[in-house]
Amino acid sequence: MTAPARVVDLRSDTLTRPTAAMRQAMAAAEVGDDVYGEDPTVNALEEHVADLLGHEAGLFAPSGSLANQLGLRLHVRPGEEVIADSLAHVLRAEMGAAAVFSGISSRSWVAERGLLDPAQPLALMQPDAGAYQVSTRLVVVENTHNFGGGTVQPLERLVELRRATQPAGVALHVDGARLWNAHVATGTALAAYGQQADTVSVCLSKGLGAPVGSVLVGSRAHVAEARVWRKRYGGGMRQAGILAAAGRWALDHHVERLAEDHARARRFADAMAEVDPTLVDPTLVETNIVILDVGAAGWAASDFVAAAGDRGVRMYATGARSVRLVWHLDVDDADTSHAVDAVTALVTEAAHRP
Ligand SMILES: Cc1ncc(COP(=O)(O)O)c(C=O)c1O
Repeated sequence: MTAPARVVDLRSDTLTRPTAAMRQAMAAAEVGDDVYGEDPTVNALEEHVADLLGHEAGLFAPSGSLANQLGLRLHVRPGEEVIADSLAHVLRAEMGAAAVFSGISSRSWVAERGLLDPAQPLALMQPDAGAYQVSTRLVVVENTHNFGGGTVQPLERLVELRRATQPAGVALHVDGARLWNAHVATGTALAAYGQQADTVSVCLSKGLGAPVGSVLVGSRAHVAEARVWRKRYGGGMRQAGILAAAGRWALDHHVERLAEDHARARRFADAMAEVDPTLVDPTLVETNIVILDVGAAGWAASDFVAAAGDRGVRMYATGARSVRLVWHLDVDDADTSHAVDAVTALVTEAAHRP
């Protein structure tokens, strides 16, 4: 097959490239040595994100994985446990970091689309398990939920969870890599989400379009401790203001536009459901992620990804029968139309079925 004339890359919202204006902001950033706490652009970003989320302090980290792992480290000692749903990024996609670096044990519950049902973690957690079992110290909730398909966690469910975990002495960490998407999709204030958690990690490098960067927010004491662990893990950066400036630019210019990604994802899902309703329920597409159940149409996910790639649409297999497509800053209406046409052709032409 010849190379497709147009390639739309929907594998992830991490694929965005900094815009020209963002690059200018980076070039103009005032910088200092952030390990000494002397980078004014980093300091301002940390303060700004903490304010947005209603927390006392923030810490800039090179990745969402590190920001999450710092959060875990703060709340759970070696030999104790974190619990999260079975598709959570912290358990499934951070390479066992909690176990490798922090000696943290984990258990999980199965959540349809990653949607939080507070009864599930509450049934699983065992805060004071005594001398024979592992004690639960932390619940992690992912909002929006990546492998769940961009699922938004309803605020009232987080409130309900928090009401039960806090008196039990179990901390709550929100993996808010895409909390911006939840905020834009629902209109819920970022601080309202933030208040339900002891610590929150947010990413600037997903749909917001910054090349690098996440922020962990929490109490002043927690962030001071996380600063030590960040350095210990090798995540202390020097003139990081160049990166923080990209993050600040993204926060000031790219949050509200996430609604465009959500609308395009929904348009794609609507079109797919019209072609084959077993592929996706478009009413469940709340944000920028679409998961297609290609197994229902007889495809192996890996074959589907390869065939779609031949037609110029790149996507990611999330399981044996499911594929994920993610909308972001570098995907416009014309790209979305191309994806609709190419994937429609793929699922309707029997000759292409394996
Ligand atoms: C929900 C979630 N949390 C954390 C991360 C980790 O971010 P990073 O790739 O910056 O380590 C990701 C990455 O895609 C994610 O989707």
